[in-house]
Amino acid sequence: MEQNNQQFKSIQEAMEQGSGKVAIRGWVHRERKSSKLKFIVLRDSSNIIQCVIEKEIIGEEKFLTVKKTQVETSMKIYGEIKKEERAPTGYELHVSDFEIVGECDTFPISRDQSIEFLADNRHLWLRSRKMTAIMKIRSTYIQAREEFFKNKKFWRFDAPILQPSQCEGGSTLFEVKFYKEKTFLSQTWQLFAEAGIFSLEKIYNMGPTFRAEKSKTSRHLSEFWMAETEVAWANLQDISELAKEELKYCLKQVLAERQEELKILERDVGKLNIASNKEWPTIKYREALKILKEKSEMEVSFGKDLRTIEEEKIMEHFDTPVVVTHYPKEVMAFYKPKDPDFPDEALCFDMLAPEGYGEIVGGSQRDTDMEEIKKALERDGEDLENYKFYLDLRKYGSVPHSGYGVGIERVITWICGLDNVKDAIAFPRTMTRWTP
Ligand code: 4AD
Repeated sequence: MEQNNQQFKSIQEAMEQGSGKVAIRGWVHRERKSSKLKFIVLRDSSNIIQCVIEKEIIGEEKFLTVKKTQVETSMKIYGEIKKEERAPTGYELHVSDFEIVGECDTFPISRDQSIEFLADNRHLWLRSRKMTAIMKIRSTYIQAREEFFKNKKFWRFDAPILQPSQCEGGSTLFEVKFYKEKTFLSQTWQLFAEAGIFSLEKIYNMGPTFRAEKSKTSRHLSEFWMAETEVAWANLQDISELAKEELKYCLKQVLAERQEELKILERDVGKLNIASNKEWPTIKYREALKILKEKSEMEVSFGKDLRTIEEEKIMEHFDTPVVVTHYPKEVMAFYKPKDPDFPDEALCFDMLAPEGYGEIVGGSQRDTDMEEIKKALERDGEDLENYKFYLDLRKYGSVPHSGYGVGIERVITWICGLDNVKDAIAFPRTMTRWTP
């Protein structure tokens, strides 16, 4: 039975139709056979449904061909849909005809396979219900972010991936041969965004970001997607409040649209509801040190960046993301200005996620004092020649401005309640993995 493409419904749409004839197509998710019956649970991107093929209805000859259908065979199936409470998603399709589109070798992924095996077969593991749910949540989150910035009348602005300099520390740069020259893969969009605000004022983007991290932790990727924002005239307070607003908006959208997927991931949605409904506090780094000392008996002296263990301890006392501002100027990147009232502190912030998920956002006001920037770059051993374009921005009508970057995979890891950031991206790249 040939059907044109319009006549196929997604499994979800077919279930919404609830009764009558439907045509669906997808992949075999599970299957089971007896002498007269074959049960196929078919999956497409929308859902799964149990399909029943009866020898008596389909005819003996056709029934023989069902032996070719095994897990991940692609098929078109035609039949009558009915409510069936015992079926996995509450509906059953009584098959009148089917067509095998792509036959399938024995699918290598079955139950209880090691993390390494699943990583080696990532191109196939993406079809799992878990990965599908994560990818849908990621997509919803990113679409919500686009909507957020469109509503706020921001412009999308894209920067080069091949860049002449570092921004977040030379030690994590990936070097790329560029004809006869040397360039680096983007560590951030920021330096170019700081040029972009002079024409567009309020800008955002999302782009691939590369860091040759030497750490094999559950939160570091070598390639990740950073969602960045830069705003002319904004100060630290304005920008950190905007970051809260953005993340909360996207979280609320995920909660509104992706309940099914959060259920598949067995996420404790109650915790996300709390985070989406409460105010997100802002504290200073010095207050964070006080919390560590008084509530967690951890002594950290002023001047150190917070490590994962310290972030975790601080966040034991909060059930929403928290913005931490005013880290020690001494250990911060060159573009973060000192607070004029407390010169050992920088006008910068990180946002930490609850439940031990750690830093998800990093941002700051940008230094507009050319001499201070030069001093900090020289401190880091940088060649000022590579920053000429950046320094020019302070020469030609400079204005106060601020921005931040959201680690998309870190946020998705938190929202989905994952153990490892690697599951928040389709094809993770880490220190030890760059295939498939
Ligand atoms: O704090 P970072 O380094 O900030 C910047 O790059 C700024 N230039 C952004 C800006 O102001 N426009 O990185 C921002 C965020 C971190 O908070 C974290 O969520 C994520 O990017 N991130 C990583 N995510 C996964 N793997 C890594 N190796 C990451 N490094 C940073």
